[in-house]
Amino acid sequence: MSTVAIIGAGVIGLSWAELFHDHGWDVVISDPRTDLADVVGASLGERDIRLSGSVEDAVAHADFVQENGPERIELKREVFAAIAEAAPASAILASSSSSLLPSAIAEGNAAADRVLIGHPFNPPALMPLVELVPGPETSAATMDIAFDVYSSLDHTPVRLKREIRGFVGNRLQKALNDEAYYLVQQGIVDPAGLDTVMKNSLGLRWATVGPFEGGHLGGGPDGIRHLAANVGSQMTFPLGSPDRSRMDVVFDQVETAYGTGPEAYRVRAQRRDRLTRRILDAVAVQQKSEAKR
Ligand SMILES: NC(=O)c1ccc[n+]([C@@H]2O[C@H](COP(=O)([O-])OP(=O)(O)OC[C@H]3O[C@@H](n4cnc5c(N)ncnc54)[C@H](O)[C@@H]3O)[C@@H](O)[C@H]2O)c1
Repeated sequence: MSTVAIIGAGVIGLSWAELFHDHGWDVVISDPRTDLADVVGASLGERDIRLSGSVEDAVAHADFVQENGPERIELKREVFAAIAEAAPASAILASSSSSLLPSAIAEGNAAADRVLIGHPFNPPALMPLVELVPGPETSAATMDIAFDVYSSLDHTPVRLKREIRGFVGNRLQKALNDEAYYLVQQGIVDPAGLDTVMKNSLGLRWATVGPFEGGHLGGGPDGIRHLAANVGSQMTFPLGSPDRSRMDVVFDQVETAYGTGPEAYRVRAQRRDRLTRRILDAVAVQQKSEAKR
């Protein structure tokens, strides 16, 4: 059986632990939080998972390390130095970072050839995508092994050709989020209304075809060139950007719409997971029947 060390047991680390465990891995978790045993118990129930008091101990026998600490470059650099020192020389060292460059995380690290970003979408136990981002020193073998590991978890790894801040998914998300905050700040729509727009249009569409294939279909039989000449020719307005000094105005509205605190979080996260499973199941059934044809 292979062993994964999960470093950092917040929202993302706990969900990775669930996924690796449920695919037959031995899981060791390390996190300095004092309530570690309680949060692991509450989140992962009866699963047989080892808790460790230190990063060095957690990675000592790991085949794969998935790091999920706070998104601060100095801290990640420090944690990866400790990981590289203590982990077996064959271990693959992945960070869940949402936007940091792997070259920055691995700066001065003797194991830089085994460091990469394995960026999930929340929650990693359910969301299939993992972006694999190499730094300039990441070896091809590291990318291949990581690709195979995430595939074996029934996930969908996508290799980026080289590093860029925010990778692909979060650059797209940032562009969309900036416009969403702008529209709410301008009083054009409220947060729940904007979420309804997304869920019933772009969210649903992009779960099946993505922006490029969707655009090619949007132009009818003449495809993307027709769409660009027709609808696209009028999309000449500038996009907005939110006033960063007034973000609280939007946060207040989001909290009023969806509630705050552990119980509201638990209920909404469970509902999101139920709906996500249903969509994934429906897509999988359809893909299976297409593969048979
Ligand atoms: N939340 C998301 O939607 C999301 C999605 C994809 C990737 N990520 C990335 O995953 C990582 C974790 O994000 P999160 O949302 O789970 O954060 P979080 O705040 O929920 O959890 C971070 C955890 O790291 C722990 N920690 C602090 N110092 C540590 C150390 N020295 N060693 C080990 N653990 C330490 C904290 O105690 C905490 O439990 C970040 O790099 C983030 O960019 C987050």
